[in-house]
Amino acid sequence: MTTPPLAGEPARSVSPAARLRGEPRLPGDKSISHRALILAALAPGESLIRDAGDGRDVKATAAVAAALGATVERRRGDGLNVDYRVASPGADGLHEPDGVLDCRNSGTSLRLWAGVLASLPFFAVLDGDDSLRSRPVARIIEPLRSMGAALYARRSDTLPPLVVVGRHRLRAIDFATRVPSAQVKSAILLAGLRAEGQTTVREAVATRDHTERMLRSRGIEVRREPATSSGGGPVAWTLDGGAQVRPLDERVPADPSAAAFWLVAGAIHPDAALTMRAVGVNPTRRAAIDILTRMGARIEETPAGAASASGVSGAGEPLADLTVRSSELHGIDLGPDEVASAIDEIPILCLAATQAHGKTTIRGAGELRNKESDRVAGIAAGLAALGARIEVDGDDISIQGPTLLVGSAVDPLEDHRLAMTFAVAGLIASGSTGIAHAEVAAVSYPIFFAELERLRA
Ligand code: S3P
Repeated sequence: MTTPPLAGEPARSVSPAARLRGEPRLPGDKSISHRALILAALAPGESLIRDAGDGRDVKATAAVAAALGATVERRRGDGLNVDYRVASPGADGLHEPDGVLDCRNSGTSLRLWAGVLASLPFFAVLDGDDSLRSRPVARIIEPLRSMGAALYARRSDTLPPLVVVGRHRLRAIDFATRVPSAQVKSAILLAGLRAEGQTTVREAVATRDHTERMLRSRGIEVRREPATSSGGGPVAWTLDGGAQVRPLDERVPADPSAAAFWLVAGAIHPDAALTMRAVGVNPTRRAAIDILTRMGARIEETPAGAASASGVSGAGEPLADLTVRSSELHGIDLGPDEVASAIDEIPILCLAATQAHGKTTIRGAGELRNKESDRVAGIAAGLAALGARIEVDGDDISIQGPTLLVGSAVDPLEDHRLAMTFAVAGLIASGSTGIAHAEVAAVSYPIFFAELERLRA
């Protein structure tokens, strides 16, 4: 079965793998790569960012940094990761961009830069591709406006393009996010860096805390309540405005969200053993590892030291080597808090559930509709086309397993995580699985398909 190549990316077909062995090479963590570039633009002096992920999203963030006046130099790159040297005049030296800031497919670029731009006294427009133009921005407009910046967006201030007219001295706020979102939290904290007084962001579920860790490692005091970081539960983050972000030489850990594709591939394939090195296992990012382990996945985790190993100062992210082997999975129940913690991994976990004995239920997955595509609709349609028993009821997904998947044409809706999920499905489905726009994987994982071919060889 073939998928007609539509406009944009070419289609790919994946056939079943006899076995999976080896060490998948992973991109540098996308969330951390974005933040390292943004913080380097705010820090006067020279920052080095080693092993940043070289996907399209991170490139978009680098281009925005350059458009605002930082010198962004790409050094060693291997098509997967790249080292950046960023020389910046610091936040006070950044200037109004001449044109529209193109965030392409990247919600993180748009929302985090909006927080920075709110505190810079000039006019800027953030825009992106059709997917980005369908993603909500009211969630950042509301808090950044209450800090004193002017923001406007299309469709009554709900959709990009987003205009930001920043202001030199913002008001600090104490804000509780309405949806668990590290992007919203980070936008407010980045704006708060240059606000007068103390900015606090409260969240009902702890989302990824990279911004907070990375600010600390750059000399900014960020307080957490409760003080201990264990992942999950309500948490409040506070910083005082006015402190200067310091430049840093840092290595980016391997991306746990990219690792999740191979963890599932290894667990559901009958003859697999895959090992990944120095993967970020931050408590706020490791939910997929824990969920898969609860489903019965045989995952071995060996601590790999801090990101500061090799003499390069890091953001204090814990790392581990991960090995996964063919596993007998069983269905589980996931609630809304776990969905928030594994927000980017839910599509690939749905694939795991198709191979698990019994029923898996995922409750409160509505926020997945606001990602690069409507991931609830996309995963349901794609896995159903491959023969899975998957049902959607409002914001809840239920999957009955195990089912034998049968190769077919699937549409990942030009969404990188759906494209990679369906490709992994193709490794165990009979026949050929045709994936439209497959190269969209390069948004986060440029060599994903090359790795897929290598590991099955
Ligand atoms: C990200 C936060 C999450 C996640 C996205 C990356 C980040 O988005 O889905 O891929 O780097 O802060 P939300 O904050 O919108 O949940």
